[in-house]
This record gives sequence, structure tokens and C-alpha cells, in this order.
Amino acid sequence: MTGLVKFVGGFAIVAAMAMSAMPLVARADDKDVIDYRENIMKSLDAQTAMLGMMASTQVEPVDLISTTRSLALIAKQAQHSFDAKVLGGEAKPEIWANYADFKKKMDDFVVKTAEMEQDAKTGGLPVVMEKMVDVLTCKGCHDAYRAKK
Ligand code: HEC
Repeated sequence: MTGLVKFVGGFAIVAAMAMSAMPLVARADDKDVIDYRENIMKSLDAQTAMLGMMASTQVEPVDLISTTRSLALIAKQAQHSFDAKVLGGEAKPEIWANYADFKKKMDDFVVKTAEMEQDAKTGGLPVVMEKMVDVLTCKGCHDAYRAKK
């Protein structure tokens, strides 16, 4: 019986915590949604800039694997950051008009960045850079869906 009371009590606490967290979600306004996805994009930019510095021998590529791993993780964060239709920032309305195509580009990007992490382990910097220049779709997506200000 006491076990059940404890269980029910525990459940009530969890439920209360969940409820207290709910207004946080509800408070996210359009600006938050835009800031959030732009911060993810800035993080992508930082990781690719680091890879660029390794490629141009400005820094030793000692962090190659962790940098490609970060890139792959941040790509996953980007994957759903446009699910909510919030116009604004540099996002073109075409994202949501052609969401299946946009999502395909994003999913493809996630796959390619995951491959880059493997490339870093097996082929090292030259193979990673080859993929970054020839295969990575930052520009392909931006040309179609980002209105650069
Ligand atoms: C599938 C589409 C897609 C891919 C892939 C993508 N981006 Fe973006 N990116 C966007 C969109 C859309 C915006 C505009 C977002 C906004 O302003 O709300 C953007 C914005 C940005 C910005 C500007 C952020 C700011 O400060 O406002 C940077 C920097 C950026 N992307 C870098 C990258 C890099 C680097 C990559 C590849 C490693 C990449 N993006 C891959 C769609 C994409």
C-alpha cells in the first residue's frame, strides 16, 4: 500500500513538473523560434569554419573527428527546426510551400554530415574536405530557401 502511495505521489510530482514546464513552451513566440533556428545555423557555420581552418593548415587537424561529430549533431538539431511554420528572419516562405522538398534537403544533409564523421575516422582531412566542397548542401539549400539580408 505504501508502495502505491509513493508511486502515486511520485507521479503527482512528475505531473506537476510537466505542467509547470508547459507554459515555457507556450511562451515561445515567433522571435524565439527564429532565434533558435538561426543559432543552430550559426553553430553549423562555426564548425565548417573550423574545418576550413584545418584544410588551409591554419590549425592542426587534431580535432577533426570531434568537429565532424559536432557538425553531424548540429545537423540533427537543424532537422526539425523549421517544422513550425514561422515566417521571418532570412527564411523564405517557399520552405513551407514546398516543405517536402525542403525536408528532403534537410534529411539528406543529416545523412551527409553523418558520413563525414565516418570519413574523418577512415580517410582523414582530405576525404572530409572533398565531401564538404563537393557534396555538402549548405549552398544548395540556401540558394532555394534563404533570403540573405
Ligand atoms: C535544408 C536547408 C539548409 C541547410 C542544409 C543549411 N541551411 Fe543554413 N539556413 C537555412 C535557412 C532557411 C536559413 C534562414 C533561417 C532564418 O533566418 O530563420 C539559414 C541561415 C543560415 C545562416 C544565417 C544565420 C543567422 O545568423 O541568421 C548561416 C550562417 C547558415 N545558414 C549556415 C549554414 C551552413 C554553414 C550550412 C552547412 C554546413 C547550412 N547553413 C545548411 C537553410 C539551410
